[in-house]
Amino acid sequence: MTDGPENDAPATPASEAAPAKSGTASANPPLPAPPVPTVERAETLNTNDLHDLCDAAEAAIIDGGGFGWLKPPPRHTLEAYWKGVMLIPERMLFVARLDGVIAGSCQIQKPPRNNEAQGFACNLTTNFLAPWSRGHGLARQLVEIAERNARDAGFRILNLDVRETQRAAIRLYETLGYSKFGEHPFYAFANDRYVRGYFYFKELIPLRPAATPSESLT
Ligand SMILES: CC(C)(COP(=O)(O)OP(=O)(O)OC[C@H]1O[C@@H](n2cnc3c(N)ncnc32)[C@H](O)[C@@H]1OP(=O)(O)O)[C@@H](O)C(=O)NCCC(=O)NCCS
Repeated sequence: MTDGPENDAPATPASEAAPAKSGTASANPPLPAPPVPTVERAETLNTNDLHDLCDAAEAAIIDGGGFGWLKPPPRHTLEAYWKGVMLIPERMLFVARLDGVIAGSCQIQKPPRNNEAQGFACNLTTNFLAPWSRGHGLARQLVEIAERNARDAGFRILNLDVRETQRAAIRLYETLGYSKFGEHPFYAFANDRYVRGYFYFKELIPLRPAATPSESLT
C-alpha cells in the first residue's frame, strides 16, 4: 500500500532538501496515511475475523447500539451467534474493515421460503460499527453493498426498523432514500423505559411510476 500524504506532496530531490539539524525534530513530520475503509460480503469467517467481529460487536453493545443486546453477552455466546449467522441460508453477512480489521457489519435477512406472498421483500438488520471506526463512510458503504446484493438476489423492497434514539442511523437511511412508513410506540425497552421505533422501506427497483409534476403538487 502507498503512503497517501507522502505521495501527494511535491517531490523534492534529495540534493535540494534542507539539511536536517542534528538533534532537532523535522518541522513538518509526515502525517500518517488515513485509514482505508472497505466493505465486503463475508461468506466465511477465519479465526481472526471472528475475534475482530466479536470485539467490534462488544464495543458497539457497550456504546448502546448493539442490535438488541443491552449488555455484552459472554464471549462464547457472541462467537456462537456469528457462527450461526454463517450457517443460516436466509442470512447474508456484510463486514466493514478499517485497515483490514473488521469494525462492524450488517445483514440481509431473507423471508422464510413459505412466505411466498412477501418473497419480493427482505430486511436490513443488525447494522453497527464499533465507535472507533465511525465517521469514515463505512456505514454508508455497508448499506450500499447490502442493497446491491439484495437487488442481485432478486429482491425488490428492503425493509428496516430503528430506534428513535439512533439518530446517526436515521440520518443515514433517510439520506440513502428510505421512506418512513410507520412508528411503534413500544418498539424496544432500554434503560427502564420504552423506546419508539421507526419503520422504513426502500424500493430497490422502482415499483411505482415517478410522480408527474402535476401529481406532485397535489
Ligand atoms: C449508524 C452507524 C452505523 C453510522 O456509522 P458511521 O461510521 O458514523 O457512518 P458513516 O461515516 O458511513 O456516515 C454515514 C451517514 O451517517 C449519518 N451520521 C453519521 N454520524 C452521524 C451523527 N453523529 N449525527 C447525525 N448523522 C450522522 C450521516 O448521514 C452520514 O452521512 P454524511 O457523512 O454524508 O453526513 C453508527 O453510528 C452506529 O453503529 N450506531 C450504533 C448502531 C446503530 O444505530 N445501528 C443502526 C441500527 S438499525
